[in-house]
Amino acid sequence: MSEKILVIGANGQIGTELVTALRGIHGAEAVIASDINSAAYAIRNSGPYELANVLDKDNLHHIFEKHRPTQVYLLAAILSAVGEQKPKVAWDLNMTGLLHVLDFSVEFKVDKVFWPSSIAVFGPHSPQYQTPQYCVMDPNTVYGFSKLAGERWCEYYFTKYGLDVRSIRYPGLVGWRANPGGGTTDYAVHIFHQALKAGTYESFLSADTALPMMYMDDAIRATMTLMDAPAATLSIRSSYNLSGISFTPAQLAAEIKKHIPNFEISYNDNDPRQAIADSWPKSINDSYAQKDWNWQLEYDLPKMVEDMLVNLKKII
Ligand code: SER
Repeated sequence: MSEKILVIGANGQIGTELVTALRGIHGAEAVIASDINSAAYAIRNSGPYELANVLDKDNLHHIFEKHRPTQVYLLAAILSAVGEQKPKVAWDLNMTGLLHVLDFSVEFKVDKVFWPSSIAVFGPHSPQYQTPQYCVMDPNTVYGFSKLAGERWCEYYFTKYGLDVRSIRYPGLVGWRANPGGGTTDYAVHIFHQALKAGTYESFLSADTALPMMYMDDAIRATMTLMDAPAATLSIRSSYNLSGISFTPAQLAAEIKKHIPNFEISYNDNDPRQAIADSWPKSINDSYAQKDWNWQLEYDLPKMVEDMLVNLKKII
């Protein structure tokens, strides 16, 4: 059966990459990109596009009715740092938007739904190293507890209504095609832009702040692999832990220096994002993803840094 895939939040860091990848596999016409703003340059003119605000229920319903998607990817969200500036707006967008999409997916009998969760579901009392799938979870950011509540809703819709929802707790994502917006892990993308443009970067996280991160190519491949996996093999319908590379700003800077010897990093020790980072895990255990859908990482730190610099150089 041919697929009709609706990607909501298509202009974002993950959306831009996913739309490109999905159009490559299924053909341009099969992938409807949508976002609250007009189409980002990278996906403009490459296939169908709909303006959609996930909080505008009538318009979203109309888009489901018009396109009758077989798969839906809901990527629209407010991330951790911006969420702390606008807590109620973040809660409303992240939660009500998800519930609209889950409800319309049940109503229009969507085959599969993808919704991203995050390492932000963990909190200060979660184990910090090799954080397991199941443990104490006490997120203290609005973004984090909206994702944790969202995971519960996803599992609930699977159990109650048989909706085939799949989800990954993404680490911080590093890619060159699109910029992140409003997150705590964004430094790991900005650093590359500044290294190439200015040769210097002021990190808003301290030198030794280790966080779980992943190269975008691995994240997109993980997403596709999870979405292609037979439903019966999936033992988790909340969200899968996914482990990439753990590194600190100092380690990332040292790796960049191997390619740009004059690159210098400095540190701002008065940024509110530090407290968010300190509440998150330093590394993740993803044994369920390995067991259920054979997940294996491809990009380590040196490979990621090399690929980022080679590709970013061409476009900035
Ligand atoms: N990358 C996100 C953030 O920093 C976490 O999922 O907010």
